[in-house]
Amino acid sequence: MKSHTPQSVTDAVLEQMESTSDERFKAVLESAIRHLHAFAREVNLTPAEWLKAIEFFTRVGKTCTVTRQEFILLSDVVGLSTLVNTLHDATALEKATSTSLLGPFFREDAPQLTLGEQISNADKSEEILLWGTVRSAAGKVVANAKLMVWQTSSAGVYDLQEGDGSAVDYRGTFHSDSQGNYHLRTVRPLGYFIPMDGPVGDLVRAQRRQGCRPAHIHFLISAPGFRELVTALYFTGPYLETDVVFGASPELVANEESSDPEAPAKGLPSVHFDFTLARAGSVDAAGGRVGADPTKLRAE
Ligand code: BEZ
Ligand code: FE
Repeated sequence: MKSHTPQSVTDAVLEQMESTSDERFKAVLESAIRHLHAFAREVNLTPAEWLKAIEFFTRVGKTCTVTRQEFILLSDVVGLSTLVNTLHDATALEKATSTSLLGPFFREDAPQLTLGEQISNADKSEEILLWGTVRSAAGKVVANAKLMVWQTSSAGVYDLQEGDGSAVDYRGTFHSDSQGNYHLRTVRPLGYFIPMDGPVGDLVRAQRRQGCRPAHIHFLISAPGFRELVTALYFTGPYLETDVVFGASPELVANEESSDPEAPAKGLPSVHFDFTLARAGSVDAAGGRVGADPTKLRAE
C-alpha cells in the first residue's frame, strides 16, 4: 500500500482500471481520469468547491424529466455538444453541410406535408419561402430525401412551450422531388432564451452571458445510403455572434432575398439554401443520432 500524493493518486486509479475489458471504454475513461485529475490539480480544487460541483450536478440530474434534458443543455452551454458535432463531421467520408445542434424541441411526429405548404398554423405573420436542393457530395441530386423542419413562431416560442405543449405547429416533414428540390413556406423565427429556470440557467447568469440563441430553423435530413444530417439555418440578427450554445456558424447563415426571380414561388421573401449529404460510412452504422433525441432519454 502507498500513501497518495496529488500525482500518485492518478496513477493508482489508472492502475486499478487496467482490467477494463472493453478497449474503447478503457481508453475513454483513462483519458477522462487523467484530465479530471489534472484539472483538479491546476485549480487546486478545495473540498468546498468539490461539494458545490456535486450539488450542482445533483440539481442538473433532478431537473431532468421525460421532456427536459438538463445534462444535454449543460453540454450545450459549455460547448461540448458543438465540439462533439465538429468531431463527428470530421469522420464523414465526404464534406457535407455542417452539423448544428438538434436541441430539445425536436419531435418525430411532425406532420407530413407536400412541397410548398406552410408549416405555421397559429402564427399568421409574414410568410417566407425556404427553398433549395439536396445533393450528394459528388453534386448529384438526392430525390425523395426526407426533410424534417422545425422552428419557433415569430414570437420565439416552440409549440412544445405553448399551452400544455400538445399542439403541433411550426414544423413539418417534406420530401425532395425527383430533382432533389424542396420548398416550403413558414414564418420568420425569432431568437429565444434557452430554458433558464434550472441550474444551467443559474450557471449562464453567474457567467453574465446573455442566454439566447439567434433566430434559426432546424433541419434533419435523411436519405438511404447517406449520413443523416442534423443542422440549422441561422438568420442575421441578434445573438448570431454570441449564441449561448455555439450552434451558429458562418456557413449556416441564411441569406434572405426580398424578391428572388429564381425562387419557386413568387412574391415572397425567400431563403435559398442547398444541402449536401455525405455517403454513409461504417462509422454511421454504429453511431446514434447527432444530439440524441432528448425524448428518448427517459428520466427514471
Ligand atoms: C435549440 O436550438 O432549440 C436549442 C439548442 C440547444 C439548447 C437549447 C435550445
Ligand atoms: Fe432551436
